[in-house]
Amino acid sequence: MQKLKIRGGRRLVGEIRASGAKNAALPILCASLLTAQDLRLTNVPDLADVRTMLKLLEGMGVKVVREGDAVVLNAGALTSTVAPYEFVKTMRASILTLCPLVARFGSARVSLPGGCAIGARPVDQHIKGLRALGATVEIDHGYVDATAGRLKGARIFTDMVTVTGTENLMMAAVLAEGKTIIENAAREPEVVDLAECLSRMGARITGAGSPTIEIEGVESLHGAEHAIVADRIEVGSYLCAAAVTQGDVIVTGCVPHDLEAVTMKLREMGAEVVTGEDWMRLRMTGRPKAVKIRTVPHPGFPTDMQAQFMAIAAVADGVSEITETIFENRFMHVPELERMGAHIRINGNTAVVSGVEELEGASVMATDLRASASLVIAALAAQGESTVDRLYHLDRGYERMEEKLRALGADVERIRS
Ligand code: UD1
Repeated sequence: MQKLKIRGGRRLVGEIRASGAKNAALPILCASLLTAQDLRLTNVPDLADVRTMLKLLEGMGVKVVREGDAVVLNAGALTSTVAPYEFVKTMRASILTLCPLVARFGSARVSLPGGCAIGARPVDQHIKGLRALGATVEIDHGYVDATAGRLKGARIFTDMVTVTGTENLMMAAVLAEGKTIIENAAREPEVVDLAECLSRMGARITGAGSPTIEIEGVESLHGAEHAIVADRIEVGSYLCAAAVTQGDVIVTGCVPHDLEAVTMKLREMGAEVVTGEDWMRLRMTGRPKAVKIRTVPHPGFPTDMQAQFMAIAAVADGVSEITETIFENRFMHVPELERMGAHIRINGNTAVVSGVEELEGASVMATDLRASASLVIAALAAQGESTVDRLYHLDRGYERMEEKLRALGADVERIRS
C-alpha cells in the first residue's frame, strides 16, 4: 500500500502544466467502440482509471497502441460485448461502454456499478434513455443486458442532470435512425469534449454545453484525431493548494473558462486570480476568508471541488458553510480533516467549518479520489509531517501529483511499502 509523506508549511511557488481530463478521457475512450476505424487521442492522462478502461476495451477485442500521451484505438474486430463486474466494481465509468456497444453491435452486457463510497449512484437514467431509443434492457444477475436492432431517435428527458448519463445517451443517439433530443442534459466541459470528438468522427450534434442536445443519427462513424481537454478539477486542485499555502502558482495548458465558478470562490476567499487564454495564475497573500459554497451541476460549483475547498475553509478566517447537493455521502474527508485539527460540524448536507489558525500534521486515510486531494491540500498547509494513506484513490485521477507538487516546492515523498 503506498502513502504520501508531506511536510507542510511551505508556500507553493512556480509553474506546472495541466494534464488531460480523466472525466473526458474515459467516455472518449469508449467512443472508439462506435467505429471500425482508428481513433487517435492525444493529451490522454496516465492514470489508473485510464489504464483500467484500456484493459476493459482490450478485453472486448479493441486494439490499443499507447505512445506517451497518445493512444490509438481500433474496434474493427470486436470479440466480446461484455463489461465484467471485476472492471465495473473498480471503475463506475465502465458503464460508458453500454450505449456505444448497443448502438454499433446491437447488444451489450455490462455489470451494474452498484453503490460507491460517495453515494448510491444508480444508472437508471442511462437505462431509461436507452429504452426510449428502442433497446430492450433487462437486469439479470447484477448485469444490464441490452439488445436492439438499429436504435431509433427519440426525445429523452432525464430526471436529474447526469454527466455520464448524458454522455452514454449521446453515444447511443449518434448511430440511431433519426433525431434525438436530450433535455436536461449535463453541460459539463467533458460532455462538450465528447461531443467534439464524436463530431470529428462524423456525428451530427448541436447544443452540447447547453441543457438541450440535438443529435441527428448517422449510419456509421469514421476514424478521427482528438486532443483531450484539460482537467479542470486537477487545475482547481492545484489552485487550492496554492491558496492554502499562500503561494503563487501558474497552471498552463488549461481552459480558464471551465473554472469560472471555482475562480469566483477563490477570489471571494481573498486570492488574486489572473487568467490568460490557456493559463491561470493564483496569488494569495494572507489568511483565506470564509465562504459559502453549494455544489450544483456545471456551470455552478462542482461537487468534485467540494472537498478541496473544505481544506482551505479549515484554515480560513471565519465560519464557512459548504453544502453538498449532488452526492449523499460526500463528507468522508471530514473526520480525517478533524484529525488534523479542523473544526467541522455536519448539519444534514451542510458542513459548517470554523477556520482555525493552523492545522497540524497527522496520519490520515484517503477514502475517495477528491477526498484524498483534500487531505493532501490540508497536509501542505499543516505544521509538521502528515502521511496520506491509500494513495490508490489519488492515483485514479491525478497524474504524477507528487512530481507536480515538488516542482512547486512542496516537500512530498511517495512511500512504497
Ligand atoms: C460524473 C463524474 C464525477 C462527478 C459527477 C458529478 C465521470 C466519470 N464522473 O459522475 O467525477 O462527481 O459526474 O459532477 O465523469 N443519478 C441517478 N441516476 C442516474 C444517474 C445519476 O440517480 O442514472 C444521480 C447520481 O446518484 C447523483 C446525480 O445523479 O446523485 C449526478 O450523478 P452523475 O452526474 O450521473 O455522476 P456521474 O456521471 O456518475
